[in-house]
Amino acid sequence: MITPQFDSAKIESLGIDPTQIPKHIAVVMDGNGRWAQERGLKRTEGHMRGEDALFECIEGALELGIGWVTVYAFSTENWRRPKEEVKFIVNFNRDTLRRRRDELHARNVRIRSIGRRNWRMPRGLLRVIDESVEQTRDNDRMTFTIAFNYGGRAELVDAVKALVAAGVPADKIDEKAISAHMYAPDMPDPDLIIRTSGENRISNFLVWQAAYSEFLFLDSLWPDFDRTSVYDAVREFQARSRRFGGL
Ligand code: IPE
Ligand code: IPE
Ligand code: MG
Repeated sequence: MITPQFDSAKIESLGIDPTQIPKHIAVVMDGNGRWAQERGLKRTEGHMRGEDALFECIEGALELGIGWVTVYAFSTENWRRPKEEVKFIVNFNRDTLRRRRDELHARNVRIRSIGRRNWRMPRGLLRVIDESVEQTRDNDRMTFTIAFNYGGRAELVDAVKALVAAGVPADKIDEKAISAHMYAPDMPDPDLIIRTSGENRISNFLVWQAAYSEFLFLDSLWPDFDRTSVYDAVREFQARSRRFGGL
């Protein structure tokens, strides 16, 4: 089913204020392995079941008119996992994107990615990402950013390297200059970061950008996430009071 365009009456009927929708939500999709293990399945089965959760998340966000969704798919630390699991995750992400990018394109979603491109990044996956980014570059309903081979510290290291390489003098380095050298300089900071699986940590996700994000840690595991989880998260977000250091 194609999600209808932004419908404020429907949003209000969900108990959500359509004028206070977060501009950017970022998601740490965690708990796939535990979801599978609880059922006596292989961890890889959990990753596979995460695909439905991801597309439910995107649909829910589209319904609410959320303009930016960023998902943590693979961290710079996830290479520490057994070779077989890493290989599965890489291939699964590549194949999922290849299979479903037309659907995202039809929904007017712009696909982007953040992460280290020139270190360990498998060429096949990089190619599918680049093709998807190119295919959807003019879409403007939502920007869906995949963080793969992403680490917040690696991103800061890369930004510092780029500043030095550009010969930027010390007195010209400020927060704006650093932000301008992040992987996606036009991406607004996330208003809300959601993490499933009961772990209350950031695990190197959007370290710079999360300075004033609201955090929502859920006990549920990623494969059980769906669009109602997005509604619940936005309702919770709207109940928070953000002060940004002011009064
Ligand atoms: C998240 O699920 C997916 C990735 C990190 C790639 P996990 O694989 O971390 O699942 P748990 O946390 O071990 O249950
Ligand atoms: C964070 O989950 C990374 C992703 C979801 C891609 P991890 O499962 O890798 O995080 P830790 O190891 O529990 O901190
Ligand atoms: Mg995990």
